[in-house]
Amino acid sequence: MNRRYRKTIIAGNWKMNNTLSQTKAFAEEIKPIMPKGKWCNVVLCVPATNIQAAVRLFKDCHIAIGAETCHELDHGAYTGEITAAMIKEAGAKYVIIGHSERRQYYNETDFTVNKKVHAAIETGLIPIICVGESLEQRELGVTMELIAYQVKCALANVAPENARHVVIAYEPLWAIGTGKTATAEQAGEVCQAIRTVIRKQYGAHVARSVTIQYGGSMNAKNAEELLAQPDVDGGLIGGAALKPADFVKIIEAANQE
Ligand code: 13P
Repeated sequence: MNRRYRKTIIAGNWKMNNTLSQTKAFAEEIKPIMPKGKWCNVVLCVPATNIQAAVRLFKDCHIAIGAETCHELDHGAYTGEITAAMIKEAGAKYVIIGHSERRQYYNETDFTVNKKVHAAIETGLIPIICVGESLEQRELGVTMELIAYQVKCALANVAPENARHVVIAYEPLWAIGTGKTATAEQAGEVCQAIRTVIRKQYGAHVARSVTIQYGGSMNAKNAEELLAQPDVDGGLIGGAALKPADFVKIIEAANQE
């Protein structure tokens, strides 16, 4: 983390979990134990059906709400899809773009990711852009090239004044939901490489402002070590964000002086 230049953001990604009543129960449980520290921003990305209620439920404990994806267009005949404006009007501030599960199961490509990033920015949502390599790609030694490509595609034609506000989440596919975490060194190395890509494209000022998260089995036990890396500015958390006590421990790790 480097709090001097950029925000530390701890974000939960609930994926396809938690109904409205479960969201209410989560809010009740987290409220009394939510850390008061002011160092990190906390976000919960929730299923679209819960956004509006979540905005209200988590307001008191200063948790901002995000969506888990959006469509790249602003309207049209796309049954089942949701636009960035719909998400924004529901009260969300963030939207996850290009999560590996979206890339894998819903054919999202680096090009659609770029369109969605533009849709989010134009609407005033902060995109949390996910990038990451598979185990095969890591073993082939192409991680850095792949990540650089994904970041460059995602940010294509994004103006510097917008680029400095995006969030990038490095999520190695082999660490998602597997209980296998990247080592702090691996996470730090890739997050640093992401910042270098941004620096080459936008200069040092933009690069040092961008929040870069690590995601992939981050939990109460390993958060502190991962967040100690200078280029790891937070986490995008799946499983551990479904349990208020675990999520709070990660926030506490990010709130340490
Ligand atoms: P887990 O924390 O469950 O590994 O999920 C990570 C993730 O995909 C967050 O977007």
